[in-house]
Amino acid sequence: MTPESRRDWWKIPTVGLGTWKVAYPGEVTEAVKAAIDSGYRLFDCAYLYHNESEVGAGIHCKIKDGAINREDLFVASKLWCTYHKKSLVKTACSRSLKALKLDYLDLYVIHWPMGFKPGERDLPLDRTSMVIPSDSDFLDTWEAMEDLVIAGLVKYIGVSNFNHEQLQRILDKPGLRFKPITNQIECHPYLNQKDLIGFCQSRNVSVTVYRPLGSSCEGLDVMDNPVIQQIARKHNKSAAQIMIRFQIQRHMIVIVKSVTPKWIRENIQVFNFELTEEDMEDMLKLNRNLRLATFPTLAEPSCHGLFCLKMGH
Ligand SMILES: NC(=O)c1ccc[n+]([C@@H]2O[C@H](COP(=O)([O-])OP(=O)(O)OC[C@H]3O[C@@H](n4cnc5c(N)ncnc54)[C@H](OP(=O)(O)O)[C@@H]3O)[C@@H](O)[C@H]2O)c1
Repeated sequence: MTPESRRDWWKIPTVGLGTWKVAYPGEVTEAVKAAIDSGYRLFDCAYLYHNESEVGAGIHCKIKDGAINREDLFVASKLWCTYHKKSLVKTACSRSLKALKLDYLDLYVIHWPMGFKPGERDLPLDRTSMVIPSDSDFLDTWEAMEDLVIAGLVKYIGVSNFNHEQLQRILDKPGLRFKPITNQIECHPYLNQKDLIGFCQSRNVSVTVYRPLGSSCEGLDVMDNPVIQQIARKHNKSAAQIMIRFQIQRHMIVIVKSVTPKWIRENIQVFNFELTEEDMEDMLKLNRNLRLATFPTLAEPSCHGLFCLKMGH
């Protein structure tokens, strides 16, 4: 079975465009248009990125041009932590739909397992700069997510940044109506997530990877790793293409972000070559359990103009 055919049961494209961290309004609109022209059909959005209307503008421009139909696309968004209360889930989803100017999402995921105090601030902090939690439980949030499917606002629901215990809690929930279709997690050769991926796959939950190129604020660049560079030279491909292909051969769905037209094209040209078993083994051996993704907070300025705090686990 090829990685591509493996997920025919829910028909999600294998490679999608990430939309986080764009430098100025409008940049992501152009990226989305270039991506559609290059063959992307999966778009990974989130309320937190505060650019869903610009992503929607790119999508609608291409629909208007006749380049694509809505049904050809797979648009995903995420429920932010301040909307975990059951009564707020539909409001949050409707906001994303309104911004994207869509009447349904293909996928809606719980962005992180923890809920924060509801309100206008994405990161409600107390006087000691600690995030104020809400008393919500993600099992209740999940029930409201299921209601969105019943209401026809979303086709599939999933989770993101859930560990195996959190995922199992949902799977064990009495009266579960819909299983999480996917768990979106950070993954690259320095954090290969072998155990969590094995767990998800054993429960028939697909895995979507973010940060596949392993870029970090601290200047560490996984793409510079000599093993990856050597494999790239051998296949006459870029290091980015090797890292994306690595995930595809592990049966992952890959979300990769770029606003650079050349890279947008390059990152989806990953279906005309195959890594050998030895290449795969060599890349798996690079694992350092190194988490690079940052969690946005007001604690310290990041290299992307957002504010980031390293997640401990
Ligand atoms: N669920 C979550 O909590 C979560 C967390 C983080 C990210 N995500 C999602 O996953 C997406 C991807 O993750 P990410 O943006 O963190 O990291 P990423 O896709 O691994 O890396 C993006 C960075 O790599 C650069 N790049 C892209 N293609 C390249 C190529 N071929 N050669 C060299 N550099 C290249 C981009 O540059 P340019 O943009 O300048 O072209 C950008 O700086 C996000 O955009 C977001 O949609 C989800």
